[in-house]
Amino acid sequence: MSNHTIRTGIIFGTDTGNTEDIANRISEQLKQYDIEADIHNISDTSPEQFSHYDLLILGIPTWDFGGIQGDWDDFESALQPLDLTRQVIALYGLGDQFGYGDYFVDAMGWLYNHLKHSGAQFVGYWPTSGYEFDASLATLEDGRLFCGLAIDEDQQFELTDERVNRWVSQIVSEHRQWADDMAEAG
Ligand SMILES: Cc1cc2nc3c(=O)[nH]c(=O)nc-3n(C[C@H](O)[C@H](O)[C@H](O)COP(=O)(O)O)c2cc1C
Repeated sequence: MSNHTIRTGIIFGTDTGNTEDIANRISEQLKQYDIEADIHNISDTSPEQFSHYDLLILGIPTWDFGGIQGDWDDFESALQPLDLTRQVIALYGLGDQFGYGDYFVDAMGWLYNHLKHSGAQFVGYWPTSGYEFDASLATLEDGRLFCGLAIDEDQQFELTDERVNRWVSQIVSEHRQWADDMAEAG
């Protein structure tokens, strides 16, 4: 599959704009790989729109001690029935590891748990090294990985561009690998 034909949607929720800003930065980076993404706010997105895309990049911040950003929370009942067997999903989550170190990017874990039985293939797991926190619902593999990219605009904003760039390269290559495997399997 050439990159031109990867239909890519970035869907985010936000309270104060950071997660939207990261959606824009991810979209800019994707252009380096000839991928033009559509960007949607989850508050204006219907469940049907999820199936329009081959690659879904979903962004969610955590609020109020492990709470789910409001527009994603409103979408909860629509998440569980989604059939995403043809889709590849990459998650990113925003949080504050020093301010909320017992709940760091918890909402990304919530989103992962709601979608992990949707049939989608997940890409973009991300190492927890380089972050300092006590607990997070978004970790896998004995705490070695996050289920997606963790971004901390409050405490580590200076690391964000490099993280976004590396992660975008990772998800593009993992998506390519998945597409090759699918083609081989017929
Ligand atoms: C009142 C308040 C509660 C927060 N609760 C959490 C939390 O439980 N876990 C976390 O990782 N970050 C928490 N944060 C940090 C936000 O997730 C972070 O600022 C994020 O960048 C906001 O994204 P947004 O601008 O897209 O809404 C909290 C921030 C505030 C101000």
